[in-house]
Amino acid sequence: MKKLALITGSKGGIGSAITCKLVSEGYRVIAAYYTGNRDCAEKWFKEQNFTDEQVKLFELDVSDSAQCAERLGALLQEEGTIDVLVNNAGVTRDTVFKKMTAEQWHDVINTNLNSLFNVTHPLFAAMCEKGNCRVVNISSVNGLRGQFGQTNYSAAKAGMIGFSKALAAEGARSGVTVNVVAPGYTGTPMVTAMRPEVLEKITGEIPMKRLATPEEIAAAVSYLVSDAAAYITGETLSVNGGLYMH
Ligand code: CAA
Repeated sequence: MKKLALITGSKGGIGSAITCKLVSEGYRVIAAYYTGNRDCAEKWFKEQNFTDEQVKLFELDVSDSAQCAERLGALLQEEGTIDVLVNNAGVTRDTVFKKMTAEQWHDVINTNLNSLFNVTHPLFAAMCEKGNCRVVNISSVNGLRGQFGQTNYSAAKAGMIGFSKALAAEGARSGVTVNVVAPGYTGTPMVTAMRPEVLEKITGEIPMKRLATPEEIAAAVSYLVSDAAAYITGETLSVNGGLYMH
């Protein structure tokens, strides 16, 4: 039986690379995409040449706790336990704090942080019952160091790390590991959407003088979900080209 992985934000820059990597390693992937984006998700599925045996598209609003409980509960009934959960969905609403609206704050906290409860909670008990399962949460260098213009995002990404350490303690006796990958600035639409002069300044601050590739982030996830990483839990693995060393 193939191992089953659920990846949120699966067709985004990093999510797509994680999906491809896990498919190449023989996982079956439930590729969660944001409600209403069906056409876009189908287009991505075709472009990647996935088969129905490899990837199942799954509509999910990770910020909606009731919908997650209902849809993920039904998924468990249909598919059985999820072996690997990658909480990757995330958004930015960058602006200086003085100008930030409550909506910009809540959008980011709901999608990036509250989603950890919404998506993990319906799946976690079954993972513990099965044992030897994996949760990987995609945080950010900006959750570790704080970034100008990202009080909302930095708060959510730092919160993900606390959540992961606490859940790691709860999953440990069942062999369920919970870890964090903290990417630096990565070549994805989220990053390239920044003003060119801002991006240039930030790239200049990265010791390696380049962005990460999505594949470099996916490689870290692939390691943490592997059997080789069974004894690593509650850890944060930075992949940031030396931008922040903690
Ligand atoms: N530190 C200190 N001061 C800074 C600063 C910094 N890092 N960045 C800008 N400032 C200063 C500017 O010099 C400017 O000063 P003056 O008014 O004296 O000229 C002032 O703060 C206002 O800056 P902006 O002109 O940039 O303000 P803005 O309102 O036009 O834009 C912003 C604000 C959208 C937040 C913009 O600064 C920005 O895009 N910053 C980068 C945010 C960022 O890194 N986002 C990451 C997105 S990708 C991602 O999140 C993925 C991941 O995990 C890494």
